Amino acid sequence: MKKVLVRISCLLLVLSMLFTIAACGKTEGTSTSDNQSPGSETTGQTTPKAAKKKVAVAMPTQSSQRWIQDGDNMKKQLEALGYEVDLQYAEDDVQVQVSQIENMITSGANCLVIASIDSTALVNVLEQAKQNGIPVIAYDRLLMDTDAVSYYATFDNEGVGRIVGEYIEEKMKLATAKEEGRTYNIEFFMGSPDDNNAVFFDRGVHKVLDKYLESGVLVCRSGQTDFSQTNTLRWSQEAAQKRCEDILSGFYADGHHLDIVASVFDGLSYGCAAALLGAGYTPGDGWPLITGQDAEIMAVKNIINGTQTMSIFKDTRVLAEKCVKMVQAVLEGSEPEINDTTTYHNNVKVVPSYLCTPVPVDKDNYKEVLIDSGYYTEDQLK
Ligand code: BGC
Repeated sequence: MKKVLVRISCLLLVLSMLFTIAACGKTEGTSTSDNQSPGSETTGQTTPKAAKKKVAVAMPTQSSQRWIQDGDNMKKQLEALGYEVDLQYAEDDVQVQVSQIENMITSGANCLVIASIDSTALVNVLEQAKQNGIPVIAYDRLLMDTDAVSYYATFDNEGVGRIVGEYIEEKMKLATAKEEGRTYNIEFFMGSPDDNNAVFFDRGVHKVLDKYLESGVLVCRSGQTDFSQTNTLRWSQEAAQKRCEDILSGFYADGHHLDIVASVFDGLSYGCAAALLGAGYTPGDGWPLITGQDAEIMAVKNIINGTQTMSIFKDTRVLAEKCVKMVQAVLEGSEPEINDTTTYHNNVKVVPSYLCTPVPVDKDNYKEVLIDSGYYTEDQLK
C-alpha cells in the first residue's frame, strides 16, 4: 500500500512538472497569433509576467496641432495593444531630436517610430539603432540616405500638392480663363527644404498649375515659382509672413492685386493672411483664395470666417493605425498593410509604404468630413 502511494505521488509530481514546463513554453511563445497582446499574462499567478515591449516615438514639434494629434493617437493605439510608449517631441531642433533618439536606443526601445525634423540628419543615429538590432519606421516624413528603415507610413504627398492645384484650378475656373480673357496673380508658399514631403507637395502643385503659368492665365508677379525660392525653412509661419509682406510691398504696391495664395501648410497660410491684412486687404470681396494643409482647428475657424479658403485634412487616426500595424510587423512578425512599393526611394532603397488619402476641406464639406467623422466636435470649431 505504501509503495502504491509513493508511486502515485511520484506520478503526480512528474505530471505537475510537465504541466509547468508546457505552461512556461507557452509564455515564451506569446505572439499576436496567440491573440495575446505583448506583455499580457498568459498563465496566471505561477508564471512571471513578460516584460512589455517598448516603442519609442520621436515627433518633430508641438508647435503645430497635427503633430500633437499624431503623438496622442500613436500612444493611445500602441498602449491599447499592450506596448509601453516613450513619446518625445523635439520642438523643431534637429540636435535635440538626435539626442532623444540616442536616449531611446540606450534606454532599451524595441522599435523606433520617427517623424523627422530634417529627413537627412539622422543617418548616424539610425545606424546606431541598426547596430543594436532596433527596427525603425518612418512616420509621415521619409528618412533619407539610410538602409536602417523598414517601413514608411504617410499620406499621398504628391496627391496633397495635386489637390491644392486642382482646387485652385476648379474654383478659379482656370480651364476656360484664357478664352474668357481672365488672368490671376498667384504666389507660392511651399514647405521646408529639409522635409522630403515638401518636394512632393511642390511637385504636385506645379503638375497642375504650370500649364496656366505658361499660358499666362496665372501670373506670378514676384517671379518666385521655383522651390528654391518658394520654400519655407522649418515651415515657419513668421518666415512666410515676412516673405509675403516683402512680395506685397515689392510687387503689388502699384495697384496690382494678389488673387491666389498657394500655401501647403495652415501655419504658412496664417502668416500670409496676417501680411495681407497688414497690406490693407480686407476679408470679404477681394480677399485672395488661400489654400492650406492639415485642417488645424484654427484653419477651420478661418475657413468658416472666410480668411482661408480650404485646407487638406489628414486623418491622423488612420495614419497611426497603419503605422501601428508596421510596429506589430517588425516586433511580432505579422504582415503590415503596404500599398506602395515604388514611390519612396530614400537614395539607398525603396521603402515599402502605406499612403493614406488626403481630403480637401472647405466651407461646403467641413461639417461632414471633420465633425461627422468625430475628428472635431462642433464646440471646438466655435
Ligand atoms: C506634413 C504636413 C505638415 C508639415 C508641417 C509635413 O511633413 O506632412 O502635414 O503640414 O509637415 O508640419
